[in-house]
Amino acid sequence: MKFGHFDDLNREYVITQPDTPLPWINYLGCQAYFGIISNTAGGYSFYRDARLRRLTRYRYNNVPLDFGGRYVYLRDDESREFWSPSWQPTRTDLKDYSCRHGMGYTVIGSTRGGIEAHTRYFVPLDENLEIWQLTVTNTRATKASISAFASIEFCLWDAQDDTTNFQRNFSIGQVEVEDGVIYHKTEYRERRNHFAYFACSEKGAGFDTQREAFLGRYRGWDSPAAVEAGQLTNSIAHGWSPIGAHQVKLDLAPGETKQIVFVLGYHENPVAEKFDPPGSQIINKKTVKPTIAKYLDPKKADAAFEQLRQYWAGLLDIFQVNTPDIHTNRMVNIWNAYQCMATFNMSRSASFFESGIGRGLGFRDSNQDLLGFVHMAPIRARERIIDLAATQLPTGGAYHQYQPLTKRGNNDVGSGFNDDPHWLIIGVAAYLKETGDWSILDEKVPYDNEPGSETPLYEHLQRSFHYTLERLGPHGLPLIGRADWNDCLNLNCFSDTPGQSFQTTTNKDGKVAESVFIAGLFVHAGQELAAIARHRGQDAEAAKYLAEVKKMDQVVRKHGWDGEWFLRAYDDFGAKIGSKECEEGKIFIETNGYCVLAGIGLEDGLAAKALESTRKHLATKHGIVLQQPAYSRYYLNLGEISSYPPGYKENAGIFCHNNPWVIIAETRLGHGDEAHDYYSRINPSAREEISDLHRCEPYVYAQMIAGKDAPTFGEAKNSWLTGTAAWNYYAIVQWILGVRATLDGLEIAPVIPRNWPGFTATRIFRGVTYKITIERKGDGNSITLTVDGAPIKGNIVPPPADGRKTVSIKGILS
Ligand code: GLC
Ligand code: GLC
Repeated sequence: MKFGHFDDLNREYVITQPDTPLPWINYLGCQAYFGIISNTAGGYSFYRDARLRRLTRYRYNNVPLDFGGRYVYLRDDESREFWSPSWQPTRTDLKDYSCRHGMGYTVIGSTRGGIEAHTRYFVPLDENLEIWQLTVTNTRATKASISAFASIEFCLWDAQDDTTNFQRNFSIGQVEVEDGVIYHKTEYRERRNHFAYFACSEKGAGFDTQREAFLGRYRGWDSPAAVEAGQLTNSIAHGWSPIGAHQVKLDLAPGETKQIVFVLGYHENPVAEKFDPPGSQIINKKTVKPTIAKYLDPKKADAAFEQLRQYWAGLLDIFQVNTPDIHTNRMVNIWNAYQCMATFNMSRSASFFESGIGRGLGFRDSNQDLLGFVHMAPIRARERIIDLAATQLPTGGAYHQYQPLTKRGNNDVGSGFNDDPHWLIIGVAAYLKETGDWSILDEKVPYDNEPGSETPLYEHLQRSFHYTLERLGPHGLPLIGRADWNDCLNLNCFSDTPGQSFQTTTNKDGKVAESVFIAGLFVHAGQELAAIARHRGQDAEAAKYLAEVKKMDQVVRKHGWDGEWFLRAYDDFGAKIGSKECEEGKIFIETNGYCVLAGIGLEDGLAAKALESTRKHLATKHGIVLQQPAYSRYYLNLGEISSYPPGYKENAGIFCHNNPWVIIAETRLGHGDEAHDYYSRINPSAREEISDLHRCEPYVYAQMIAGKDAPTFGEAKNSWLTGTAAWNYYAIVQWILGVRATLDGLEIAPVIPRNWPGFTATRIFRGVTYKITIERKGDGNSITLTVDGAPIKGNIVPPPADGRKTVSIKGILS
């Protein structure tokens, strides 16, 4: 069952039934001012940090679901009936409800009683504000008198404090209303120099700023008393819960349309110029008024919207493909790329599943995210890399997370996740391949943000590599530390106390438990580092890295192979994890995907065997589960992985983030059918028809789909902010389609399904537009290329020496 459809031409998903299984969200903003918005106008906004600068309130895990939002109400002033054109919050029956989630904007509307209304929400580029354009049309044969209301509830900035510290917060709320603009200025009197505002383009018929005046006692957003009465009360909030509500009266002739623009924004004043007149307690509004006036003008709002469309078109046009598979096309061309940008912007902070008050930026996650967005935002990728590297420790280890506002490592979580450092190598390699900007390696970057500790970035990579060599266990495999990629495989934390952190409670000395996964990652990262060294003319150093890689490869074969698949790890007793000898958790996806991706066992059949076993034991119709059999009870020596009920999350859930490792692994063996088949199983668009089972948005990946051991097999959770976005994008674009950025140029190496006659693509790479046509003439994956009509040797196309800006590549697969 579906709840809408894709509109690929407009790059939108159109939801046509408001009661989706979960709120299906979109993101507004792509620079500093952000919001999430659901298909029924739920959600909230924030400036830079979803915890510390939250503008509006949202009630996570509330009943009914998805409350707090950008709510519009219409009231027929003759019949006195009122409703919300976005369905929530009133949940009145509507005709022609639709929500169009597009690239950085959302339009929600419907018709009721002959009154058609829709609101377009978006954040203009380079501004710290959002625009709501409400358009109301009278389709009746008679005139209509309508009151339109728009409302939001302010958050008192720190979202965590806002939901807990009521003894203080109920007394500090303050607003000002001037020229019909509502200013939220809680704590502006003391240490804040920022405020929020909510403005309306039309002369208002009233406003409210005190929640209780607007809603009425014991009433909710579904039935505000002032809307019901048809008259806002001009309340001025003092303490309690400041809100912003505007009322506009519309007299509409038959067929007439009117537009009202609302602007919700964030503004900072220089500390010395907070008040006007100086010495008063009145907000200095001189600095913000021009901005407000500008965007209340519908023409300027339209122009800003057009700019936003162009911005997204520009980003998406960097890679466009046309294959025989519509699901591949729309994910690659639109939604997966878009999700990669959202994941980059948000890291893991704010979604329907991430409350915006929790985690900082993950070192591992942020580096992997680069794989998905570096081609769209190389300058910001560079910045991100430097920020990440600056939190690296002198040992080469890394803080597991850092706080985006301070850019410092997070001491609560600390370090010791022994896979972390290698992701920096992989992230930097992706950046170099995309941009060819070798200067980044000479950039002086500190350790632990300590002034004076700076070394060139290149040395950070060297230290990352050595970190593992200095931490090898009894079998010569890397020690796992607190966890490796799988945060929930906690082999040095025997936790028996509720509420303890599985990751940071460490009570074993950590000298025994080893990770075969980190070994695979080391082999991969080591090859990347060697290639970088070689490119810098450091051949001897490259050879050293490759020698270590080879050694590790041998250790993996010797101590990391179980006969039919790669082992997962050794625990603190030196016992195998992910082995046929285990009672549960006999086989894991991570090592079988990643070791093959890294190239281990490609020549001698181990890789093929590992993938066969993966298919046999882990593949399901909804994707590949993380391990089998699921842990049926809690294991003190394994940690969080066994804390989840079977089939969820790391305990045998389909953890979509690692499925692409197997996809890439399949392509390394030349298995295009298998690779694309796995790709399609978790492709959200290909799952659209089962939206009632899948439940999450059909346009973005979720972190997890419940595995076969769960009663809800096939149900997705934790959509949007997941490494799944980058990895799937990387797998389909660079490994299945095989349009791959390399240090030497654009490589063309498709491993596509046998029944595809070929595909065409456009790729803008280092400033050159490559028009690519691939034609299949045989069953295999060998490719011969002609570039601008001339055959070339090999399959790497370097940027044209003569400065041409367009290049045609024709590839024949045979
Ligand atoms: C989550 C984390 C990621 C980790 C994965 C597996 O997605 O964000 O860092 O690798 O879970 O535990
Ligand atoms: C939880 C999640 C896991 C995440 C970990 C660390 O255990 O299940 O996915 O990686 O937290 O934040």
